[in-house]
Amino acid sequence: MGLGYAVRSRLGKYEPAVSEAYRARFIDLGVLATTVASLAPGASRVAEIGCGDGSMAAAILAEMPSVEYVGIDVADNPGRLFAGDRSRVRFVSQPSSELVVTEAGTFDVVLVVDVVHHVADSERVSLLADAAALLRPGGLLIFKDWERGRGAAHLLAYGSDRYVSGDRTVRFMPLEELHELAAKAAPGFELAVECRVPPRRNNVLLALRKPATPTA
Ligand SMILES: C[S@@+](CC[C@H](N)C(=O)[O-])C[C@H]1O[C@@H](n2cnc3c(N)ncnc32)[C@H](O)[C@@H]1O
Repeated sequence: MGLGYAVRSRLGKYEPAVSEAYRARFIDLGVLATTVASLAPGASRVAEIGCGDGSMAAAILAEMPSVEYVGIDVADNPGRLFAGDRSRVRFVSQPSSELVVTEAGTFDVVLVVDVVHHVADSERVSLLADAAALLRPGGLLIFKDWERGRGAAHLLAYGSDRYVSGDRTVRFMPLEELHELAAKAAPGFELAVECRVPPRRNNVLLALRKPATPTA
């Protein structure tokens, strides 16, 4: 649910405002960040897998100004539109498996927001398993995705991702599959919260807590 490269490259200086307005039709990132802040009040390190242009980073830093944030993405130039304080953020173009090698078990919160429906089916479990591995014991995995539905909002989201973003691999999942995927990728994690993020009911957020002590 973002603008594709062909559209973005024509927008010039208007890109941040247009991107934000476009995204806001699907999700209120401010509400999502407030939810994360309330679920993890003492967090000091936050990672985001699939951070995109840095919109979620900006929302998180606005709500959690003292955290250290690390955003990674497989695309070039992650965090391109982030205009906030760069002293507390780091954006790196790398796969999640590489971040696991250097920083496993060090984050209080790991965000995976509207990423998994872009990932090939065969790689979905391993991406979320990387998110789980990055967390410290007791840390929180925030898995937010778009629930497959039948209504007009779903058709709009599908059209946006498939034709505006130009992503041919996009496949949205029903709610049961989101839960099954999370259970496979993060066994032993407790479902702390399941909620919807406005303005669309399709925005499902699963907050999963890593066991405080390693499971056998
Ligand atoms: C719709 S954007 C979401 C960006 C950001 N999370 C947000 O909510 O603003 C999806 C992002 O996922 C990234 N992505 C897709 N597959 C990925 C993977 N296997 N690992 C990391 N990032 C990935 C894409 O490059 C894109 O930037």
